Amino acid sequence: MEAIRYRIKVGALNEIPEKLGKTVKIGAHEIAIFRLANGEIRAIENRCPHKGGVLAEGMVSGEHVFCPMHDWKINLKDGKVQAPDIGCVKTYKTELQDGEVIVIL
Ligand code: FES
Repeated sequence: MEAIRYRIKVGALNEIPEKLGKTVKIGAHEIAIFRLANGEIRAIENRCPHKGGVLAEGMVSGEHVFCPMHDWKINLKDGKVQAPDIGCVKTYKTELQDGEVIVIL
């Protein structure tokens, strides 16, 4: 049996500042949405696996975000913490539809 997927509109693309995060809460999910310099959208779990830093408040560089608490570097595509640190955050698929950003849960 295939899992049910939910497609949730989280705001207009032009409301998401480039290279900065936006926090979105959908039920029990707290998600950090990012618009990269190349215009692509990424969505990841909003809490750092180290000590819970809010990743939407982190600095974005290329395909990575730096946690604002202790600077762990996390890949926005696969959610993996970069060495020498270890860990992972959940990632979410996104789509654009008529200028609206959609997160798929
Ligand atoms: S809480 Fe993110 S690096 Fe420590």
